[in-house]
Formats: sequence, structure tokens, C-alpha cells
Amino acid sequence: MIQFLLNNTPVSYQMERPDLTVLDYLREYRYLRGTKEGCASGDCGACTAVLVEQGEHGLEYRNFNSCITFLGSLHGRQLITVEHLKHNDRLHPVQQAMVDQHGSQCGFCTPGFVMSLFSLYKTSQTGRITNHEENIKEYLSGNLCRCTGYFPIVRAAEQSLTDPEPDQFNHASAKISDILANISDQPDSEPANFHAPTSVRELSRLKNDCPNARLLAGGTDLALEVTQQHRNLHEIIYLGRVPELRAFNRTETRIEIGATLTLDRLDIELGDDFPELRALLKRFGSRQIRNLGTVGGNIANASPIADITPVLIAMNATCVLESIEGQREMPLETYFLGYRQTELKANEFIRCVHLPVPAENARLKICKISKRMDDDISAVCLAALIHMEDGITTGIRMTLGGMAAIPKRAIRCEAALLDQSLEPEVIEQAKLALVRDFQPITDVRASAAYRIEVAKNLLDRLRIELSENPPVTRIGQL
Ligand SMILES: Cc1cc2nc3c(=O)[nH]c(=O)nc-3n(C[C@H](O)[C@H](O)[C@H](O)COP(=O)(O)OP(=O)(O)OC[C@H]3O[C@@H](n4cnc5c(N)ncnc54)[C@H](O)[C@@H]3O)c2cc1C
Ligand code: FES
Ligand code: FES
Repeated sequence: MIQFLLNNTPVSYQMERPDLTVLDYLREYRYLRGTKEGCASGDCGACTAVLVEQGEHGLEYRNFNSCITFLGSLHGRQLITVEHLKHNDRLHPVQQAMVDQHGSQCGFCTPGFVMSLFSLYKTSQTGRITNHEENIKEYLSGNLCRCTGYFPIVRAAEQSLTDPEPDQFNHASAKISDILANISDQPDSEPANFHAPTSVRELSRLKNDCPNARLLAGGTDLALEVTQQHRNLHEIIYLGRVPELRAFNRTETRIEIGATLTLDRLDIELGDDFPELRALLKRFGSRQIRNLGTVGGNIANASPIADITPVLIAMNATCVLESIEGQREMPLETYFLGYRQTELKANEFIRCVHLPVPAENARLKICKISKRMDDDISAVCLAALIHMEDGITTGIRMTLGGMAAIPKRAIRCEAALLDQSLEPEVIEQAKLALVRDFQPITDVRASAAYRIEVAKNLLDRLRIELSENPPVTRIGQL
């Protein structure tokens, strides 16, 4: 039995299908059809709803794609849908702003936009949001509109963020916190096919007893197997309630990133460190995806075009795998064996990654090449950690995504760049070496020839960006 708040209504739900999505539940079981289905793959934002949970400083409101989120992950949270925003016959300020600014034409995308604006509005009240223009774009990056055009919607966002007044959700927050705390504390009898362990110990035992159960973190990859490939997932172990897996710890020499730390949380935890990694995170999917997608999910999914893994490999990260038999730690570089094949055994899960803190003279460079700036996966992603002394490279680790069946180091290219000053002729030699490092494939994102060409061009970009007083090379963030 899972328990959550659907708007203001407490729900106890005996799950029959572990892979029931929140969107299907809302539309088919609760007849709440304000939440729309467009793509069912996390790309359009029509299905956006808001998840509420207790954070350190009060309730946190996060927009998410209900089409690729499984219902079982709602346990102990509040789900807010577009039907719930109006209060006493008065539109919520974000809805009123959409009306005032003519932010809707056919209206199909509108509920999703309204919910993203709502989570932006609530987050702005926490003080986390400082630059309205940048944040507006970021919060709307996962919502597509095909007829209104974005300017009226952006103006609606600006209007609602100008002196945001307390809304009915502020007034009810203490009560909602209490209800959620009580749900989380209650032991719940779980259905046999959706397990939600609350400790690593329990998780290890479950994974040992049910080796065929699928592990679920944010679901932003896993749910596509259901909505796009029309598979049924018969047994799921949800990782989101295991506190040890959400850890973020740092010492002077090492950072530990828990497997279920979300990409949004990683961005917050990094603070002012690793600006290039934070810029990459801003271009990882959309805000909805970053709110639920996790670091461990990115690794475990073992996609050759994943964005975080090349960076972690370039930074010489290790990953910790755990099972009932104990832990084993290995360089992340050796975790990937072949296309979607990894070291992970049936009874294991990824617990965390360990990231050595780079030396002061190290420069981390990351270049993501995709067709769109936002909400798009890489055609090629290059990450390099380069140590320079007096203009000479004294160490280099370079990894590319999208160029092979796995995220792979450019070993020959690294050798060509080591102990060199990055002059154009050195870069030309490195390009020849790079061609020998990779034989990329042609797919829907890019042709093999394009991938090779763009990867070679990125070496020029590295040279320019690592030179003294480099010119501006990047439009926007990355
Ligand atoms: C619209 C959209 C945009 C996207 N954009 C990007 C992008 O820009 N860059 C990018 O790299 N990816 C992108 N992705 C892919 C996805 O969001 C990421 O790979 C994300 O990090 C997956 O994390 P998750 O928690 O959602 O994983 P899940 O979907 O929960 O899990 C993915 C896989 O990993 C397994 N797994 C999860 N956690 C563990 C664990 N701790 N131990 C062992 N196995 C585990 C699951 O069983 C599953 O097989 C996008 C996806 C969508 C739908
Ligand atoms: S329906 Fe398109 S993102 Fe969910
Ligand atoms: S108003 Fe028609 S798609 Fe946005």
C-alpha cells in the first residue's frame, strides 16, 4: 500500500502494476485530465505536474514529467496537479499571468507550462532563484509550445515573479508537512512486486532475493522501456527511500556522490566548484529531468551518449558496487565492458562514486555537442582533465561520449598531447591520434563522419580555451 497526498486528498493505493505511470493513474484512474499526454517520453512537458516533499528549509516544489514517473515513487510525497492551483474561484498568480499575457492559444501545452511556472514561483519564494531571466528559461526548458510562441509565456513568468505573494500553499504548508511526516513514519505493507527499502541493508537483501527485479531511481531512462518499448516491468525495487544512497560528502581529497543524488541536487551541492560540470548539468535534459534523474542512473543505464559518465571517467572517479556479500570499488573506466554491458552483477547495485579532488593546477574542460541547447542528449561529449605547468601539459585524461559503444578514453590522443605546449601543430598530431582512438557509428543523432569531425574541432577549442586571454568561444553556457 503506498500513501501520498493527491492535491489535498490523502490516498492509500494498493498497487497492482508496479510500472503504472503517474500520468496514467491521473488520467485513467482519477479522471484528472488537465494533465496531458504529448510524447510519453519526457520531451514535451505536456504532462508536467509538481512533486512536494520536505526539504531542509521547508517544503520543496519540483516540476516533473508524470508520463515517465512510476506511481510507487510518490509514497510520502504530495502530488499537485493543475486542477489544484485555483483557490476560492481565484486563479493562481501564475495562471492569471498566463491569461494577462496571452500565454495560451490551442491550450494543449498550457497545463504543463502552468505547472512549471508554479514550481518556479514556489522555488523563488525560497530565495534559491536569483536571476529571473536565466531561471525562467531554465524552468521552461522542458516545455514545448507549438503555437503561442515563448515570449508571452516568458512575460507571464516575469509577471508572476514580480513580488510573488504568499499563496494558499504557503498558508497550508505546516499542515502538509505534518501529513507527509506522518505518512513517511508509518510502516506500510508493500505489494509483492514494488519494493521500497529504507536502508542499504534492506536493499542488499532484497536485490539478493529478487535478482530479476529492476532497480528504479528517477525512472527517466527506465520508464521509457514501458512508454516507448511497451514492455511490462514485473518487479521493481525503488531506491528513492534509501537515505545512504543520497549522500554527498567531501573531504580535502575526495568527493563521495551517492548513486541516487539527483542531478539538480548535485548542482546545488557542488556550490562554486567545478563550474564546467555545473554548466553541463544546466544542459542535462530539462529541469523536469534533472529534478528526478540521478547520477547512479546515468552510470547504470550504460548509454554511450550519457553526459555524466565521460566527465567522471576524465576525473578518474571510482564506483562502489554493493551487494549482500559486501562492497567492491573499481575505476569507473573499467565498469563499462561493452555496449550496455557492465561489471554490475544481478545481486548488486551502485552505491556511490568517489571523485578525487583535482590538483590546483588542473583544468576541467567539458564540451557537449547536441542539436539543441536544452533538453537534448549529446551527439558527442568531450571531457578532459588537464594539468598544465608553465604552458606544458603534465597530465591529461580525456574521455569522449558518443564516439564508441561505451564512454571511452582517448588514449592515443592523450599521449599526443602529453608533455607538450598546445601549439596548433601539436593539436594536428592529436587529431590524427584521435581518429585512431575511435570508430564512431552513424545513428539518428549524427553520422560517424560528423562525430569525428566535431571531435577533432573540439581539440582546437581546447587549445583556444586553454590559451592566455582566450576569446569567447561559447554562446550561452557551454
Ligand atoms: C527527455 C530526456 C532528456 C534526457 N537528457 C539527458 C541528457 O541531456 N544527458 C544524459 O546523459 N541523459 C539524459 N537523459 C537520460 C536520463 O535522464 C539519465 O540517464 C539519468 O541520469 C537517469 O537517471 P535515473 O535516476 O532517472 O535512472 P533510472 O531510469 O531510474 O534507471 C536507469 C537504469 O539504471 C538502473 N539503476 C538506477 N540506479 C541504479 C543503481 N543505483 N544501481 C544499479 N542500477 C541502477 C536502472 O535499473 C535502469 O536500468 C534524458 C532522458 C530523457 C527522458
Ligand atoms: S507527455 Fe511529453 S513529457 Fe510527458
Ligand atoms: S498553446 Fe498550442 S501548443 Fe502551446
